[in-house]
Amino acid sequence: MNLKIICNTTIKLAKQVGQYIREAQKFLSPENIREKGMHDFVTEVDKSSEKMLVKGLHKILPEAGFITEEKTVAEQNTPFRWVIDPLDGTTNYIHRLRPYSISIGLLHYDQPVLGVIYEIGSDECFYAYKGGKAYMNGEQIKVSNTRLLKDSLIVTGFPVNKHHRLDPYLLVLKKIIINSHGVRRLGSAAADLAYVACGRFEAFYEYGLNPWDVAAGIVIVQQAGGKITDFNGGNNYLFGKELIASNNNIHDELTFIIYPLMNG
Ligand code: IPD
Ligand code: CA
Ligand code: CA
Repeated sequence: MNLKIICNTTIKLAKQVGQYIREAQKFLSPENIREKGMHDFVTEVDKSSEKMLVKGLHKILPEAGFITEEKTVAEQNTPFRWVIDPLDGTTNYIHRLRPYSISIGLLHYDQPVLGVIYEIGSDECFYAYKGGKAYMNGEQIKVSNTRLLKDSLIVTGFPVNKHHRLDPYLLVLKKIIINSHGVRRLGSAAADLAYVACGRFEAFYEYGLNPWDVAAGIVIVQQAGGKITDFNGGNNYLFGKELIASNNNIHDELTFIIYPLMNG
């Protein structure tokens, strides 16, 4: 298994499909957009791009199964599995905002071992695999070396539904706003993770996430020197629907704010 070759071929595929997604935006009309859950949108582009990714990734690693957001292929329980979000940031895409990304992770026995995130609007491709370094468009990237939360810029996401945890979550937001350079909400969890990996943000946190939002970003942040945990400081961050990703240095400070409020 040569992860470097797999990574390079996956990058090419992500860019091809990204080109399709970028072009398709020009022809997007309300008939192509559907609300699959409350405020949770899907376009024909999400589905067709997922099919292209599944076809291409199957060629790259025929023994691997799939976990995909749009369910265009059945989930299989194989040792290797691709985890795909064909369009992360659909709401941005519909509103003609950036970022919006393709997120492709590869799991080996449920451990993320490779990640490719292509932020289509800015043509920035982030990637890493276990045992290697993290890159953006061929340049090595690292997390920021800022030491304290008070000197940090944080990015987060707000759930579009699953609002039952919103009250404590807003208290977390308030505490972090008061104790940092500020908080941004960009609208693509994959891009949020990629931007932590390259040092634009010191940390990202969000709840209500799915494995396809985070699988690729987990590897990229880790290989860029960052740290990932769930809100309790534990390891249930891939399937656990919540995650803190940081430059390592400010991780404890952030967890001390998030953990008691979100578990209160
Ligand atoms: C969403 C984006 C958003 C996050 C949501 C995700 P989608 O993904 O990553 O930033 O806040 O939780 O569902 O629906 O655009 O693929
Ligand atoms: Ca997503
Ligand atoms: Ca999506």
